[in-house]
Amino acid sequence: MLRLGVNIDHVATVRNARGSPWPDPMRAALLAEEAGADGITAHLREDRRHIGDADIERLMAGLRLPLNLEMAATAEMQAIALRHRPHAVCIVPEKREERTTEGGLDVAGDRARLADFIAPLRQAGCRVSLFIGHDPRQIEAAAAIGAAVVELHTGAFCDLDTEGRTADRDAELAGLAQGARMAAELGLEVHAGHGLTYDNVAPIAALPQVVELNIGHFLIGEAIFTGLGPAIARMRACMDAARQT
Ligand code: PXP
Repeated sequence: MLRLGVNIDHVATVRNARGSPWPDPMRAALLAEEAGADGITAHLREDRRHIGDADIERLMAGLRLPLNLEMAATAEMQAIALRHRPHAVCIVPEKREERTTEGGLDVAGDRARLADFIAPLRQAGCRVSLFIGHDPRQIEAAAAIGAAVVELHTGAFCDLDTEGRTADRDAELAGLAQGARMAAELGLEVHAGHGLTYDNVAPIAALPQVVELNIGHFLIGEAIFTGLGPAIARMRACMDAARQT
């Protein structure tokens, strides 16, 4: 079955806009759990612009679902991950000025450092995931340094789809499909995410090697109109329908 990881970062974005205790990301995580999410994802950014340290403490203490902690490859984040030992740690590139995670990690260009960085996380029992594009060099490097998982960045595919650039979107999808095949052949578990919506999730959900999607911004936005539970249920239905065809 294709798992759905619900990213709750933007519940914290709304909370932090006013410095109030609400809306509470922990409450969203518990609701997501009830609504059929398979995991909760949270990105602890260096600048703490959404999820904060106290959120991670509460998620670790109160969640039944596995937590996928997204973070940059910094000493500070490594220490936090080693203290909490979440189910999974997804390493993402992070630039302070970006609005969201813009590209994939350059594993091929930073092999030795990333291998050293993930070794203690692996030893601590965390499933280490690397957020990368579908470039074969990055996939090969991810396998070579001992990652368990790669999460393929679907942001470019989603943007091209929104812009109606059909030929470029199809080429990007073909790249993602080839990347998913290659990663699975190298023994990596394959996840995907970024920018997914009801309208663009189907071709990604249909990739047979992909076992988990991580989806946040769109679901939290939809929750304003329909509630979080129904938004998650509808996304699940879109994913399941795509998988069955
Ligand atoms: N996966 C990773 C690694 C991400 O960094 C993000 C964004 O934080 C997502 C998935 C979710 O993307 P979105 O919020 O666009 O659904």
